[in-house]
Amino acid sequence: MASDWSTLRETLLTASGKRGLERALRDAIRSGRLAAGLRLPSTRDLAAQLNVARGTVTSAYDQLAAEGYVVVQRGSGTRVAAIAPEQPVAAAQPAWRYHLGPGMPSLASFPRQAWASALRGAVTGLPDVDLGYADPLGFPALRQVLAAYLGRVRAVSATAEDVVITHGTFDGIGLLAPSLNGPVAIEDPGGPDQAEMLAMHGLDYAPIPVDEDGIRVDLLAQTACRTVIVTAAHQFPMGVALHPQRRRALVEWAIACDGIIIEDDYDAEYRYDRPSVGALQALCPNRVVYVGTLSKTLVPAIRLGWMVVPAALRQDLPDRRWHATRSCGTFEQAAFATLLGNGAYDRHLRRTRLLYRERRDALLQALRRYVPNWGVVGIDAGLHVVVLLPPGITEDVVDLLAAQRIQVSGLSEFAHREDLAPGLVLGFGAMSPAHLDEAIAAVAQAVMS
Ligand SMILES: Cc1ncc(COP(=O)(O)O)c(C=O)c1O
Repeated sequence: MASDWSTLRETLLTASGKRGLERALRDAIRSGRLAAGLRLPSTRDLAAQLNVARGTVTSAYDQLAAEGYVVVQRGSGTRVAAIAPEQPVAAAQPAWRYHLGPGMPSLASFPRQAWASALRGAVTGLPDVDLGYADPLGFPALRQVLAAYLGRVRAVSATAEDVVITHGTFDGIGLLAPSLNGPVAIEDPGGPDQAEMLAMHGLDYAPIPVDEDGIRVDLLAQTACRTVIVTAAHQFPMGVALHPQRRRALVEWAIACDGIIIEDDYDAEYRYDRPSVGALQALCPNRVVYVGTLSKTLVPAIRLGWMVVPAALRQDLPDRRWHATRSCGTFEQAAFATLLGNGAYDRHLRRTRLLYRERRDALLQALRRYVPNWGVVGIDAGLHVVVLLPPGITEDVVDLLAAQRIQVSGLSEFAHREDLAPGLVLGFGAMSPAHLDEAIAAVAQAVMS
């Protein structure tokens, strides 16, 4: 009490009037600085210590007693009451019963052992010379194995020199931004936060409609844009692959306008019913920036990704990276290089492809069972599908479901245009088949009741 009280006394001395004294004592009790059961100085004593009228202290104690912060007991003075000390205010976060939002892989499937062992290998095995500031464009051994991997799995045409390691897709596009001419064309509907990210880099954007064959290249060609961001292999969120004719048209557009295509290949490793569509990049390596990430295949927490960048756009990147974050972490880059080199990454992809296929099938089955009149599109690949709501049901169901602690995203959240039919974007990566069945039963019950 003595030391607590002496520091608190300093605060009380600066408190002005009855209200100030009340507030200072109340704050000290709420924060736990004055503990439950502690006996406060008598009114006479405190008034003398603070050089205030005794009535000021009496009135402050009375007020705190009325509010329940202190207890006045005849004979034993005024004591601090037992109240729960305040916790730091946490951001309000609903505890979702079912998390059907898009974007999350199975966090539980992260190959912790393989990653930990690769990371340990990097920490114990890298020579001292690698522990200083690294090459801003990436750890050479990773750029080397990644170029080979992207060639083998995604038919990307790249040497190690073309590969730039990033902290993920958004970081990569941000790094390129100063070299881009605005407005930048983006798909509509399209990836989350793209418009905000471009605006943050001082770039305007122009939404270009997507149909069942992907982005409308004819409409893109009518704009002044000379840069476009596309999800060619698996359009986000609609899930279509860019039609072969449109792929050619897009490349012709880029050649004709001296433009740049940024190919966001965020989840192409996961295709279930037919072989994966190769990357667009190989059709025109000097006009396409190919962008990839570990956020879907491993976990977003790793913050590692890559780009394959045409030489003309690469020149300023080392300086920009250096001035922004110096480089990505060498240990993590070396660990990823190990997983690529020893086959653990391929094994993880094979395992999770089966897992996600099973989850996708469970989701489709549950949708057929509980909401048979809801249409479903974009089911061939990735970690989400789009549900088209039948007449009479609007995206207001998103709020209705949130009130039941079921998280879903409305299709319009990803759109700039107004003419899209109402829909939901449902992620299935992070939930087991049984949990998905339960979740869709709960969705149906909430929407139909
Ligand atoms: C279209 C699209 N691209 C890329 C990403 C991944 O971004 P990052 O690599 O920055 O985590 C996401 C994440 O949800 C996405 O939706």
